[in-house]
Amino acid sequence: MGTKILRSVVTGAAGFIGSHLVEEQLNRGVTVTGIDCFDPWYSPEAKRANLSKALNHPNFELIEADLNELNLSQFLEPDCVVFHLAARAGVQDSWGEGFESSIKNNLLATQKLMEASLENKVNRFLYASSSSVYGNIGAGEKQRVESPISPYGVTKLAVDQLGRIYGERGLQTVGMRYFTVYGPRQRPDMAMNRLFQAALPGDFYFSLRGDGTQKREFTYVSDVVEATLALSQCFVPAGSTFDIGGGNTCSVLGIISEIERIVGSPCRIKEVSSAPGDPKLTEATLGPISEATGWSPRVSLQDGLSAQYLWQEHQLSLVR
Ligand SMILES: NC(=O)c1ccc[n+]([C@@H]2O[C@H](COP(=O)([O-])OP(=O)(O)OC[C@H]3O[C@@H](n4cnc5c(N)ncnc54)[C@H](O)[C@@H]3O)[C@@H](O)[C@H]2O)c1
Repeated sequence: MGTKILRSVVTGAAGFIGSHLVEEQLNRGVTVTGIDCFDPWYSPEAKRANLSKALNHPNFELIEADLNELNLSQFLEPDCVVFHLAARAGVQDSWGEGFESSIKNNLLATQKLMEASLENKVNRFLYASSSSVYGNIGAGEKQRVESPISPYGVTKLAVDQLGRIYGERGLQTVGMRYFTVYGPRQRPDMAMNRLFQAALPGDFYFSLRGDGTQKREFTYVSDVVEATLALSQCFVPAGSTFDIGGGNTCSVLGIISEIERIVGSPCRIKEVSSAPGDPKLTEATLGPISEATGWSPRVSLQDGLSAQYLWQEHQLSLVR
């Protein structure tokens, strides 16, 4: 049984995935309040560009603020669905001093938002978790053991635990464990974005960590948005978590060949040692989300990469 969303709050609205989620909801007639602090971790101008369509839409309101500093109750009402995507994403930056930012933006902000959402009896609370909650798995093993190998993964697993306990208190929490998301607007720290930059004209080199045989389940951003909206419209027990993946894994070497084929020129690569927190394999288990919502991924790696290529080429033309 589904429910139609009329109003939603999207945190991290100016980010890569958040901005796509905002746009799709506006297309579906939802009134959206977006919250984002335009964290300078990567270009705030790029984030503003992500929202350029939404900002001209009459049903969109942008609140430019840090969740940790905002009186959240003013945006939360019983009829609204919260999509909490704001976070300090990224595995490598969570080591060392970066951990403080991961704690602040992933854990503290989430707890504050869950508390305010419970108090204001919001209809549904969906939040972005990550494949990083799983640690290293061997090929063919079913990836159900939560044992993160990076500080970022630890914060995301803690967020899942917050989801579970606020779920027990009556907030309709649903955790979405996204697996490496790609497509237009992908964050500049992510591998595919950097690989396209290394294949397009310029002097950017891609740092290949390890031997490139590490495999990821790559998920196209529109599939992630569809899965997120499908979960928001069906009833699942509070505190549930779901893997959201693209349906296939590919090695980094495989991605490099595909990007070189699409761009028509080789990627400039320098080899560096493998990085801590970088698993050999990530692989989603899609049975539970398919059973709950009927959703399954639709965009092939070739089509998704071609769409990202068009966006990256356009980005390059803007700075030339
Ligand atoms: N991109 C992926 O492959 C991937 C994979 C797994 C999980 N996720 C999760 O999905 C979510 C979105 O990821 P993304 O790739 O779009 O990242 P992103 O960095 O592009 O977007 C996150 C946004 O949140 C905002 N933000 C951060 N802290 C905030 C705060 N305290 N208050 C208000 N705004 C704040 C940032 O300014 C940014 O615009 C994150 O929770 C991330 O951990 C992403």
